[in-house]
Amino acid sequence: MKILRLPGEMHAVRDSLRGTPVVTGLVPTMGYLHEGHVSLLEAARERCDRVVMSLFVNPAQFRPDEDLDQYPRDEERDFAIAEKAGVDFVYAPDPEGVYPAGFATRVEVEGLTEVLCGDRQWRGREHFTGVTTVVSKLLNAVDPDFAFFGQKDAQQATVIARMAEDLEFRTEIVVLPTVRERDGLAMSSRNAYLSAPARERASAIWSALLETEALYPQEGLDAALAAGRHRLEAAGIRPEYFEARHPGTLDPAGDDPDQAILVAVAADVEGTRLIDNILIEPDRQARRK
Ligand code: PAJ
Repeated sequence: MKILRLPGEMHAVRDSLRGTPVVTGLVPTMGYLHEGHVSLLEAARERCDRVVMSLFVNPAQFRPDEDLDQYPRDEERDFAIAEKAGVDFVYAPDPEGVYPAGFATRVEVEGLTEVLCGDRQWRGREHFTGVTTVVSKLLNAVDPDFAFFGQKDAQQATVIARMAEDLEFRTEIVVLPTVRERDGLAMSSRNAYLSAPARERASAIWSALLETEALYPQEGLDAALAAGRHRLEAAGIRPEYFEARHPGTLDPAGDDPDQAILVAVAADVEGTRLIDNILIEPDRQARRK
């Protein structure tokens, strides 16, 4: 496994593979790897001849209420995990390499970034612009055939897929299922911020989503969402949002058993912002027909 620190080193690898039949996969990460990241690395390993993992804690996507310096980091451990998962190249540039003096470009996706985590109150739109700007740079630096993302960040994956299509990137965006802890809490580098009691309460996020999924066929969408919200509040967690959306457009979902719906939640648990979601496919709603 090779560690590349400079954009120029990454470009040299990219250029050496260009025009060859070698299939390249990219897994973008901010490090502090857990099993969710590993599932993406393993999928990339299975489908691709060369696996590149980027490791870059991207300053441009941090919210004003979140401290960049506090973001958990452990590069040596991440390198060991990446090597074990069969990664060929770790691309771990410095912020100065990604955003050199004079850097002045933003890649912004409209519409999809203005709902859910993009709500104004949370300056979320700027967050997504930080994500799409860095991901476009990574796609250009690596030029992969496939790039792998987690369903855990469903809105992020939708926004990135939109961007890749709109800007005609030749990379296929692959989205893979959320990996969970035993009690259902979605794995996240941010879980490391939680105290033991908060960590325990946080499992209510997944229970609330499951409850909504279970009640929807019989009770309808509004009642199922209300029950999910209630479940969270009973655990002392106030959701920032707990909403049903169409998975592709992120438009509000109606009560239509023939449509897949994405129920997405963001909640502040002890000062840490956690997000999760569940995709309810039409066949799970069959009983209502
Ligand atoms: P990060 O939070 O490190 O996540 C890297 C990738 O891992 C993302 O695609 C994310 O959706 C996926 N992931 C995180 N937790 C997961 C879980 N429990 N199960 C499955 N996949 C999971 O997301 C980012 O970094 C950044 O925004 C990035 C895309 C790298 C751009 O900076």
